[in-house]
Amino acid sequence: MKTILTVNIGLCGFGTVGQGVWKHLQHSRAELTSRLGANVEVTRIAVKDLKKKRSVKVPVSKLTEDALEIANDPSIHVVCELIGGTTLARKVTLAALKNGKIVVSANKALICDHGAEIFEAARKHGGHFFFEASVAGGIPIIKALREGLVANRFPRIYGILNGTCNYILTQMGTRGLAYSEVLREAKALGYAEADESLDVEGWDTAHKASVLAWLAHGVWVQPKDMIVEGINRLSPADLHNATTLGYTIKLLAVISRDFKKNELSVRVHPTLLPINSVVASVGGVFNAVAVTGDVVGTTHYIGRGAGQDATASAVISDIADAVALIKHGKGTHLTSESYEPNQKGCKLAPAERIIGCYYVRLTVKDQSGVLANVANVLSKNKVSIATVIQNPAHTGAASLVLTTHESNEKSIGQALKQLTNLDSVLETPLVLRIGNFTD
Ligand code: HSE
Repeated sequence: MKTILTVNIGLCGFGTVGQGVWKHLQHSRAELTSRLGANVEVTRIAVKDLKKKRSVKVPVSKLTEDALEIANDPSIHVVCELIGGTTLARKVTLAALKNGKIVVSANKALICDHGAEIFEAARKHGGHFFFEASVAGGIPIIKALREGLVANRFPRIYGILNGTCNYILTQMGTRGLAYSEVLREAKALGYAEADESLDVEGWDTAHKASVLAWLAHGVWVQPKDMIVEGINRLSPADLHNATTLGYTIKLLAVISRDFKKNELSVRVHPTLLPINSVVASVGGVFNAVAVTGDVVGTTHYIGRGAGQDATASAVISDIADAVALIKHGKGTHLTSESYEPNQKGCKLAPAERIIGCYYVRLTVKDQSGVLANVANVLSKNKVSIATVIQNPAHTGAASLVLTTHESNEKSIGQALKQLTNLDSVLETPLVLRIGNFTD
C-alpha cells in the first residue's frame, strides 16, 4: 500500500478560531486527505489554561500551556498562531520561522505592526508565513490579490472588512436600534474582538487595510498615518438620513493609488455608499471587497468576515498551501516572503489631494442666522453645499444635516474646526465621507 505524507500541525491558541480549526480538520479529514494527498495531523495544542472546560474535546496528551514549546518542537511542520495580541504571538511566530517552519496566522494586528520583521525572518531562515485568515474572514482575498490578480496594478481597493461593525450598522438601520444595544448582540454572537474598541473605533479595519495595502502596493502603512474613524458616534438618525439621501452607511477601508503622482492613501471611515452599489447591499456580519485592477477591471468578493467557521475555513486553506509547499517545494505557488516590492518614491497623499463629498451633521441652536453662519464657514473654506435637511432636535435645538459637493480632507478639516468653535453649534459636528463609487 502507498504510504502518504503526514504533516504535523501545532495549534498555538485554542479560543474561538483554534477550536474551529480543530473541529473542521476532524470533520473534513477524509476530503482533505484526498484533496491534499497528505494526512494533516494536529499533534500539539497550546492553551492558556489546561484546566479550562471546553465544548470541543481533545486528548489531554496533546495539550500544553507553553506555545514556544510548539514553535521549537522539531516534529511539528506547521505552527498556527491563533493566540492574538502582539507579544506572545510575535515571539512564537519569530521562533517558528527561525526554525524554518511554516507559520499560519490570523493575526492582522501582528502583521500590521511587525510584518516587515516577520517576512525578513522568514526569508532569512527559510520559513514561510501564510495569513489568509487575517483579512475578511472566510473570503480568500489574500490569495485573490497575490495570485489571481497578479497581472494587475490596483488604483482602488475598498470594502467592508469588519463583520462586527457591519452587523451593528445593519441592525441599527433595519431595526432602528441604538448602537450600544446592537454592540451587545454582536459580542454575544462571538463576532467582536476581546477588546471591542478595536472593532468599533476602526483599528481592526485599519490593521486589515494595512495588510491589503502592503500586498497591493508593497508599502507598509501604519494606522497612525491613516485617517481612522469608527462607528461609535453614529446614531440611527444618521442611517435614516442616509437612506433619505439615497445612500447606506458602511465602515469602509479605502486604499487608493494615483500612479501618475505616485501617491497612496489608506483610510478607514464610515462612508455613505449609493444604496444600489454592490458593497452597500452587503449586510450583517458579511464583508465585501471591491478590487479595481488596471487589467481586469473591478472584481467583488463577498462572504462571512467574522466568526469561528469562516475564519477556520481560511486558516485551513493556508494549511493546505503549507502541505503543498512541503510536498512539492518552493516555487509551486507565490509566497509573500519571496515578494520583492519595487515601490521607490511612493508617498502618502497629502490631505488636499484626498478628494470627496461629505455629510455633516450639526446640532445647532434653533435661531435666526445660525444656518447663515454655518454656510459662511463652509464658504470661507471653499466647501460648497449640495443639500440641507433640518429636523428638530431637543428643545431649542435643531439637527442640521448638510451634504457637500466635491471638496478635500484639508478644507473639510479646517471647516470642521471652525464650525466646532461657533457658539451656535452645540455638539462636536459629525462628518462622514460620501463614497460615490459606481462599482
Ligand atoms: N472582530 C473581527 C470582525 C473578527 O468583526 O470582523 C474578524 O477579524
